[in-house]
Parts: sequence; C-alpha cells; structure tokens
Amino acid sequence: MYRFILIAQLVALIFILACQTSPFNQGKIMYGNFCANCHMDDGSGLRGRIPPLANSDYLKKHRNELACIIRYGKKGEIEVNGKKYEEAMPGVPQLTYFEIANIINYMNQAWGNKSPFVKVQEVQRALEKCK
Ligand code: HEC
Repeated sequence: MYRFILIAQLVALIFILACQTSPFNQGKIMYGNFCANCHMDDGSGLRGRIPPLANSDYLKKHRNELACIIRYGKKGEIEVNGKKYEEAMPGVPQLTYFEIANIINYMNQAWGNKSPFVKVQEVQRALEKCK
C-alpha cells in the first residue's frame, strides 16, 4: 500500500512538472518554426512590413482572434502601435488546438508581454467562430 502511494505521488509530481514546463517550451519551439521568420525571435517584427508582437496593442485588444489569425492568417490593413501594416500573413492550418494554445501562451508571456493564460477549450471555441 505504502509503495502504491509513493508511486502515485511520483506520477502526480511528474504530471505537474510536465504541465508547468512543456507547454511553454513547445510554444516557443512552434513560434520559432512558424512565426519567427517574419515576426523575429524577439517579436519585434520588420519595420514597415511585419507588425511587432512584443508590446503590441493589437495583440492585447484582439485576444479572442489570435487563434483564428494563427490558423487562417490575416490580410487587409491593420494598425499596430500607431503604425499601419497591409501585407498578408499566411495561416498555419495544420496546427492543433493544443499547439495553437501553446503558441498563444508563449506570445502572451514572452518579450515583456503579460496577457493572461488561455485554455485549449477557449482556443477551440474561438476557432469554431471563424471556420
Ligand atoms: C510570412 C510572414 C508571417 C508569418 C510566418 C507569420 N506572420 Fe503574423 N503577421 C504577418 C503580417 C504581414 C501581419 C499583418 C497582417 C495584416 O496587415 O492584416 C501579421 C499579423 C499578425 C498579428 C496581429 C498583429 C500584431 O502584431 O499583433 C499577430 C498576433 C500575428 N501576426 C501572429 C503570428 C503568429 C503567432 C505566427 C506564427 C504562427 C505568425 N504571425 C506568422 C506576417 C507573418
């Protein structure tokens, strides 16, 4: 019995550690694979062409649209921190809800950003609206 409790505690500990570290790391890796080409590793964008994600007012104001932007891309003129951008961003349709949530959570906490954590279910709900 004692041994069982010990194993259960160990499993719980591993689970907690995995939950705390891996989503952020996965988000960072996915960001590096799918977003950093344009938005840069430090989220600064490319002057006049690619909007920044670090301290972006757009990012803060459109939290509910992030999942849709990541999956389906975005086109048309937008204004970010007082500057206009109008180049099109391609979507990444193959990403799962989980991966999209991880990318959003990485962006929301990286480069001085401090937006709240999003759940996978919230991402799923947001995506149902922009199919
Ligand atoms: C090919 C270049 C490119 C790639 C790759 C790319 N983006 Fe974008 N992104 C853009 C452009 C250009 C815009 C502006 C679109 C517009 O004007 O409508 C934009 C806009 C955005 C915005 C809204 C504006 C802002 O700065 O807050 C967010 C959020 C965003 N991208 C996140 C991402 C994420 C996350 C990824 C990776 C999954 C990604 N982008 C991949 C080019 C890119």
